[in-house]
Amino acid sequence: MSGATIIDGKAIAVRLREDVAAAVARLGREHGVTPGLAVVLVGEDPASEVYVRNKGRETRAAGMASFEIKVPATTSESALLEIVGELNRRADVDGILVQLPLPPHIDQGRVIEAIDPAKDVDGFHPINAGRLATGQPALVPCTPLGCIMLAKSVQPDLAGLEAVVVGRSNIVGKPVAQLLLAENCTVTIAHSRSRSLPEIAARADLLVAAVGRPELIRGDWIKPGAIVIDVGINRVPGEGGKTRLVGDVHFEDARHVAGAITPVPGGVGPMTIACLLRNTLVAAAARRGVALAV
Ligand code: GUN
Repeated sequence: MSGATIIDGKAIAVRLREDVAAAVARLGREHGVTPGLAVVLVGEDPASEVYVRNKGRETRAAGMASFEIKVPATTSESALLEIVGELNRRADVDGILVQLPLPPHIDQGRVIEAIDPAKDVDGFHPINAGRLATGQPALVPCTPLGCIMLAKSVQPDLAGLEAVVVGRSNIVGKPVAQLLLAENCTVTIAHSRSRSLPEIAARADLLVAAVGRPELIRGDWIKPGAIVIDVGINRVPGEGGKTRLVGDVHFEDARHVAGAITPVPGGVGPMTIACLLRNTLVAAAARRGVALAV
């Protein structure tokens, strides 16, 4: 058995970050602009702290300005809306990311809607979601954008493919389905309540797994030769009392059936921050009316 091409998300993310850094340098040279990304962290969730620290480091490494705003978990919704309003007004801030999840006393939707859509580098604002759905220029959510880039790394033209997205979240499932539609795929969105999930998945030339269920998708759900993009990051018990990360796809079985597959870790994960940097660059250029080729 020859086995699938393993899609190296880490290497593709490195190349994207290099392209972004080169474009940032050009923007500085030719237009005197340094893109700035503000990340807001409410509370002290350790996983979120790690993400925020990594985002700051990568932002600076790409030549952009990084602003970290950390406030306690007890911050009121109105105080957070004030912070977002201030970042909307700041000329040196091109991108605003409010780290999710937020504490339960804060209405996530209200905070997302308070972000200036032109600075919404997460692409979560309903204006950007609507623009994506209607084929207008939009800031596009980072993980879905990374999924499309990884699929295109093995098949540059996705037109006409039968694409199945398993998962319907606003952050991944729905936007990745919109992006696949824009690539001229025939798109099915399935989810945990779909009947006959294995049969639906088996139709896919391109399968995107984003349900958050460890190894739900088995080898025999996969059409031979399909491209499999695994968005899942699930921590499960491993050997010797340790934990290990697995995706939503049973990788060891799937790799013998698929044509190409992303590993977990090292697949979609590294693309998310790289796409965030790309979105910050795009937002900085768009806000200043500068044309970009990225
Ligand atoms: N928390 C985990 N992933 C993300 C993300 O992509 N954006 C935001 N804002 N919060 C997150």
